[in-house]
Amino acid sequence: MEDDRRLLANIVNSQIDLHGIYGGVVPELASRKHLEDIYPVVEQALRQAGLTLDQVDGLAITQGPGLIGSLLVGLSFAKALSLVKKIPYVGVDHMAGHLVSVFLGENKPAFPYIALIASGGHSSIFYVTDYLHYRLVGRTRDDAAGEAFDKVAKLLDLPYPGGPVISELSRNGDPAAISFPRSWLEPDSLDFSFSGIKTSVANYVKQNQQSSPGGAGKKRSARETADICASFQEAVVEVLATKTIKAARSFQVQNVVLAGGVAANPRLREVFRQQGDRQGFNVFMPPQQFCTDNAAMIALAGYHLFRQQAVTTLDMDVYSRSPLTEGA
Ligand code: KG4
Ligand code: ZN
Repeated sequence: MEDDRRLLANIVNSQIDLHGIYGGVVPELASRKHLEDIYPVVEQALRQAGLTLDQVDGLAITQGPGLIGSLLVGLSFAKALSLVKKIPYVGVDHMAGHLVSVFLGENKPAFPYIALIASGGHSSIFYVTDYLHYRLVGRTRDDAAGEAFDKVAKLLDLPYPGGPVISELSRNGDPAAISFPRSWLEPDSLDFSFSGIKTSVANYVKQNQQSSPGGAGKKRSARETADICASFQEAVVEVLATKTIKAARSFQVQNVVLAGGVAANPRLREVFRQQGDRQGFNVFMPPQQFCTDNAAMIALAGYHLFRQQAVTTLDMDVYSRSPLTEGA
């Protein structure tokens, strides 16, 4: 049964160009653009899959967490399709999608495993026992890892989103150039905190501009920017990988999964593999294109919900914060 599943289309309709000039997502613009694009995107996906709506057995729709306006566009569209075409639909938690995204790759983990979801809104560690069963065992107490990348990029006048830009610039930087703090919290804690490192980068940038010859406003060289990026990235990567492996050890599982937008980061992928190899854990991660938000992971989580006969009724609503990651 599992092997019969194939991904027929996965259209990613990025709004980065639209929001980039504002340095971050503008919620009102996002939902308007969703409204404009959702119909053409669904048509494009059906065309690519070689299917008509009459051949579709179920719809999976992101219920949350995310921006309410954008989520509502998707949900209303799914409800309309469901009513008109009599296709059942399920609401999928965005985190549940990231958690199953690893199964879109070739290398699939056996349950149970520890999973880190590092994205723009979350840095959470889950103990996962099945496709749809997981327990939150660690989370960020302030900024998410991706949010830290995005905020640091802004401090350095780099474009949005910061993660891909910082990881690219880091390739030419020295990760040991600047010793930014690693926040480990209490000895047993599996939680994260990334607001301190963001403040350290802000202080470093400010002090360096003021104390260097030329004084305030001195232009940073490309080399200096690369060093800041690489040193910041190294600190975040080290904490993410170390805490996740620590969680695997404390839950006595062999398999560790890395997912979410930040999992597209090549250095994070490398350090995870190195730490896993050295400490005897098997490390799994989705191919890079399935790390950042995508429809395939929502469809896959939806598939597992349908297998449980979990069909959603028309009174379903969206939510901005996840019951999975708020520990509720
Ligand atoms: O999962 P995702 O696509 O959307 C959310 O659920 O937030 O994650 C987006 C986040 C952004 O903060 C982005 O900067 C970060 O993932 N990201 C990266 C990389 N690619 C995307 N962070 C570090 N390195 C990357 N290569
Ligand atoms: Zn995401």
